[in-house]
Amino acid sequence: MADLEIHPLQRQDEADVVELMRLALYGRDFPDLPGYWRWKHYDNPFGESFGLVARAGDQIVAVRAFMNWHLCGGGRLLRVGRAVDMAVHPEWRRRGVFERMTLALLEPMTAEGLVLTFNTPNAMSLAGYLKMGWAHPGRLPLRVKIRRPLRTTVRVGRTLLTRVIGGGVSQGGGGQALQGNVDNSRVLRLLRDPAVVELVQRAREAQLVAISPRSTAFRLRTALGQEYLEWHYGKNRWYPYAATYEAQGPAAALVIGRLRQRAGLVELLLTEVVTCPGRRGRALVARAAARLARETRADYLVTSALGGTPGALRGYIPVGRRGVDVTVRLLESTLTVDPSTWAGWAAGIGDFELF
Ligand SMILES: CC(C)(COP(=O)(O)OP(=O)(O)OC[C@H]1O[C@@H](n2cnc3c(N)ncnc32)[C@H](O)[C@@H]1OP(=O)(O)O)[C@@H](O)C(=O)NCCC(=O)NCCS
Repeated sequence: MADLEIHPLQRQDEADVVELMRLALYGRDFPDLPGYWRWKHYDNPFGESFGLVARAGDQIVAVRAFMNWHLCGGGRLLRVGRAVDMAVHPEWRRRGVFERMTLALLEPMTAEGLVLTFNTPNAMSLAGYLKMGWAHPGRLPLRVKIRRPLRTTVRVGRTLLTRVIGGGVSQGGGGQALQGNVDNSRVLRLLRDPAVVELVQRAREAQLVAISPRSTAFRLRTALGQEYLEWHYGKNRWYPYAATYEAQGPAAALVIGRLRQRAGLVELLLTEVVTCPGRRGRALVARAAARLARETRADYLVTSALGGTPGALRGYIPVGRRGVDVTVRLLESTLTVDPSTWAGWAAGIGDFELF
């Protein structure tokens, strides 16, 4: 390690860093990786990422990035980090580079007021995060609703389906080639509809009111916001989304889902559910999800079992912890909500997908 120099990540490093990411993590086929890198680290409405690169001579041999993210929890808006994109050149592995670069970024993030950092490790990095003492809520619990039981059973059988569900929920297309030119402009148009804008604004305000620690709204989830939703779902060129909106009187619901082909079936992952507190809103969520499933011809729907809208989950069967693996590191000790177990979270699939 004596001959490694560690520097802040700069825009002029982009081409070398993207090549390293391609070599170490994404592979040759990842479409428009420079665009994906910029979308994640520069266009993110929560702010530009924190990053470090390690150089050996004039070659970049490791990169570490944390995205800026906002969570709501305990009636507070929390600035947090999201550990993503860690890659070490194969010739430099198992010499503590990952550990050193990750720990080096915790101090500047704490100094900037970030209260925790979370991430979705893969099998290689999980052991490293645990070694550094990160808490481990584990894999995200999921619920599933089978829409077309006969077709589904004929295609894969019940046992196989439970093995298929949830696999790779976070990353890439989940067994499907990513395209890099996905057109999510219909989702973007819906998100810009004045009625949807108003719903998002109301839901955002509801996230921030002081609430009882026993309420689901007390628990952690991504802070809703117009810019965030447009960026994540509408301007995303790598993942195909569909969205729908239902309203009745003052109640309204927005549901966004990601489509994947798995084992010959169409899976609809409910990534985002936006509604306002109240029974009518929850009933509308159920209606919107059913409409989205019909329109996309989904065979089954998958949702987070932590979801903040339990009334909408009627008919969804718990399938256990089959989603992404999540680890967490606290940076501030005054949090009133405990992120180290799932009891502290009310997050949806969208809070952990990507990256
Ligand atoms: C995962 C990766 C970043 C680790 O980098 P590294 O610099 O070799 O890791 P470190 O030397 O700091 O290892 C720290 C700890 O992580 C764990 N670890 C690292 N690589 C591991 C591996 N291949 N298998 C199991 N555990 C591993 C170990 O606990 C290790 O401690 P130890 O060496 O005392 O046993 C590197 O292998 C890599 O770039 N892989 C490809 C890209 C990738 O998968 N990135 C993670 C995306 S989530």
